[in-house]
This record gives sequence, structure tokens and C-alpha cells, in this order.
Amino acid sequence: MNVLVTGGAGYIGSILCGMLLEKGHTVTCLDRFFFGMDSIKDIADKVRIIKDDIRWFKPEVFEGVDAVIDLASLSNDPSGELDPQKTLEINYKGRVRVAQLSKKYRVRRYVLASTCSVYGFQEDVLSEESSLNPLTTYAKANVLAEKEILPLADESFTVTVLRQATVYGYSPRMRLDLAVNGMVLGFYKNGKIPIMRDGRQWRPFVHVRDTSKAFIEVLESEQDLVNEQVFNVGSDDQNIQIFDLAKIIAESINIPFNYEWYGSPDKRSYRVNFNKIKEKLSFKPEYTPRDGAKEIFEALKDGRIVADDPKTITVKWYKQLLEMNALIKSIEINGVIL
Ligand SMILES: NC(=O)c1ccc[n+]([C@@H]2O[C@H](COP(=O)([O-])OP(=O)(O)OC[C@H]3O[C@@H](n4cnc5c(N)ncnc54)[C@H](O)[C@@H]3O)[C@@H](O)[C@H]2O)c1
Repeated sequence: MNVLVTGGAGYIGSILCGMLLEKGHTVTCLDRFFFGMDSIKDIADKVRIIKDDIRWFKPEVFEGVDAVIDLASLSNDPSGELDPQKTLEINYKGRVRVAQLSKKYRVRRYVLASTCSVYGFQEDVLSEESSLNPLTTYAKANVLAEKEILPLADESFTVTVLRQATVYGYSPRMRLDLAVNGMVLGFYKNGKIPIMRDGRQWRPFVHVRDTSKAFIEVLESEQDLVNEQVFNVGSDDQNIQIFDLAKIIAESINIPFNYEWYGSPDKRSYRVNFNKIKEKLSFKPEYTPRDGAKEIFEALKDGRIVADDPKTITVKWYKQLLEMNALIKSIEINGVIL
């Protein structure tokens, strides 16, 4: 299949593009490269690279494309609050644009990267049928995108939404702002695992290679199994309370269980039911948070991850980019030639 991956140089995208190539697919990576191009340097000669924005790229890009995996977005809750208007423009309107153009240009399959955080705080174990409770601009933009994109599905345009659990594990575009990865980093830097208060909040987790596998399985599944369908991506046994997760991490990298609290109590607590993806697509994760923690610890020790790289904390990096952008605009307004 000829697959267009938006956000293909990101944390998930850079792994997914490599896995698509391994499976014999042809890959186009469309990205603004906000985090640079290093993440895809090992596959750069095997993929078609398009540096552009999902809000305004030219539709000729769709020529010959069979399937679109739409990952591009401002990718977490805090980044989504930096400029809520921009978040809605990209994460909601931008992705609706990609889906509508995909259909218009006769792409056969479209998969939207959504998130389990659309469920927000709820006591029950949540399935795809549960009510949604988006608490942040990021989560609201995902709900709006899902609602407008799913009805585009028809016999010749297969639409699937994947609500991913919180991802962990090593990727060449490293994110250390995700729970498992950040806990390992905290221990590596300060000898203490940082735990967000009050530690009792539930969160579902999935490894970056497993969530990438789910996108590929959806592309390769029979149309009637996945068309106009929403799937939670993860597994029941990886619903974990944050305090317990910290203990698991200490055990898996064989360190004393020293920890420190941070933040005000996290309202986003949810447990998710993953029966549907298991039963309909036979999806079974291969990795656990233990594997992810070991992987991150090794990569920090051997230098593949640089602990203080500002790009690894998504919100901090986007804040810097916004400030630089504002600075450039003000210089232009003052008529200074750059
Ligand atoms: N990582 C997780 O835990 C997680 C969990 C649930 C859902 N998701 C979703 O999965 C997707 C990928 O997440 P990720 O962790 O790889 O994030 P990421 O930030 O690493 O990657 C996003 C990529 O999109 C690009 N991008 C951003 N805005 C763009 C635009 N307007 N046009 C073109 N490219 C643009 C960025 O340059 C980046 O390479 C996102 O939609 C995210 O919301 C991620």
C-alpha cells in the first residue's frame, strides 16, 4: 500500500514509518518537522518527505496514495493550552481537512490518531460506547475531529478512529513528557521517581511499537471490520495507577524505590476496556511498561537520549517556538530585514 503519514517524524510517526517500510509498504511522510528531521534520518532515503502543514498543503500530495494515517497534531494537553485557537485549527480543522481531501482524492482508507483522554475523569471502566468527558482543549479537539470525520465513511472510503492509551518506550523523536519515560528520566537525573499527585489516578498505557502495530493492523484488516469504527488501543492489564507504575519502574530497572511528589492532584483518571480491539482485530501488545522503562534507561545511559534536550518536553519546545515566532513577527513589523 502507498501510505501517507502526517506527523510522520513525530514520536509515534518515526517508529510507524519504519515499521510500514519493514512490512513492504511505500511511505510518504508529511510533517512540519517542528522537532527537526533527525528522527527519520535512518529511513530518509526510503520515504517520500514533504515538509508542509496539514492546514494548507497542496492536494497533489494525494496522487497515488491508498491510505492516510493522520498523526499530525499538537500532541498533548499542556501544549494544547498554549494557544487554544491554534490547537483547534490544527488538531480539529486541520485533520478534518486531511480527511475530507483524502476522500475527495479517492484515497481508500483513513485512520485518525485520537486519544483515550477523550474520556476524561470517570469512575467506570470505559469502552468505545461510553460517554465522553473531554476536559482540555486537546481532548475537545479530538472529540470534534472524531465527530466530523467518522460520518465521511462509506463503501469506498474506510474511516477508523484509534483512541490510543498513553504511549511509552524509545523513539528517535524522544518524548520524556510521557508518564513512563518521564519517571525513568527523573530517576536518572535526580535519583528519585517523580509521581504526579495523588498517585491513585488510573491511566492506560501502550508501547510505541504496539500502537504503531495497531495502525498497521487496521490498514490491513477487512474493510467491514474497521469501517466507521472506533477502537481503544491498549490492553486491560496495562491500566495502572500512577503510584503502582512508579513501583514497577523501580523494580524493572533495579533501583531503590525513591520518589518525589509533584503537581496538583491530576483530574484525568480513567480505566479503559480494550476488548473490542482484542476481539475484532486480535490485537495483542508485545511490550509492557517494564520493557519500556528498561529501554529508556539504557538509551539514557548510552547517550541515544540526551536528558536535557529541550525538544523532549513537547510543551516547553512549542512554547519556545511560539516565542521565537512572535519575535520574528515583531522584527518584521518594525521593518528590520532578517
Ligand atoms: N504519545 C502519546 O502518548 C499519544 C497518546 C494518544 C494520542 N496521541 C496522538 O498521536 C499523534 C502522534 O503523537 P506523538 O506522540 O507522535 O506526537 P509528536 O508531537 O511527537 O508528533 C506530532 C508530529 O506532528 C507534526 N505536526 C504538528 N503540527 C503539524 C501541522 N500543523 N502540520 C504538519 N505537521 C504537524 C510535528 O512536527 C510532529 O512531528 C498525535 O495526534 C497525538 O495527539 C499520542
